[in-house]
Amino acid sequence: MAAGHDENVVWHAHAVTRAERERQHGHQGVVLWFTGLSGSGKSTVAGALEQALHQSGVSTYLLDGDNVRHGLCRDLGFSDDDRKENIRRVGEVAKLMVDAGLVVLSAFISPHRAERQMVRDMLGEGRFIEIFVDTPLEICEARDPKGLYKKARAGELRNFTGIDAVYEAPVEPEIHLNGEQLVTKLLVQVLDLLRERDIIKP
Ligand code: ADX
Repeated sequence: MAAGHDENVVWHAHAVTRAERERQHGHQGVVLWFTGLSGSGKSTVAGALEQALHQSGVSTYLLDGDNVRHGLCRDLGFSDDDRKENIRRVGEVAKLMVDAGLVVLSAFISPHRAERQMVRDMLGEGRFIEIFVDTPLEICEARDPKGLYKKARAGELRNFTGIDAVYEAPVEPEIHLNGEQLVTKLLVQVLDLLRERDIIKP
């Protein structure tokens, strides 16, 4: 893949700005970046949160690992390099959506600190809210909603996060959720922070 961009491709500043789009939506654009093991509950919490935000008039979009890997990232697997590229692409898409003024919810394992930091840097101060869905491996494995842990333990699936591929837990996430609690309880914690930061109205 070619690194960087062509010197003949020049950034074009458009007439309608992010600030104007945000005014029209009635809120800021931000990314709520859910990270955690497979089966931790990222997609479930992000989905319930999107529903709550949407119902209260917030313009949202949910980017989900399993879905994005059917389209935008269908050519990628689960090697370290492929996961890095997966997160880079998702980060760029999320950045465009934030520029459009949306509240983007993303649910990707995103196992490496470096990639999460890359997206944080890409988005800029206050636009990236990291939400760690902290569910012990034993619980994720007992839930095993897609039967993938079973396959990984049987050696039928390689590089599975938590089994034979690393998960680097966030050190200072904006929100640390206990993934064993009820979804309704977890939602309250996220909504509180969004209100505190003036991202949504009280
Ligand atoms: S990431 O590591 O690149 O962020 P992503 O969130 O897109 O992962 O995809 C994770 C989903 O892919 C899991 O929820 C699971 O359903 C599926 N999957 C298939 N193979 C693997 C694997 N080797 N490791 C982790 N998840 C896998």
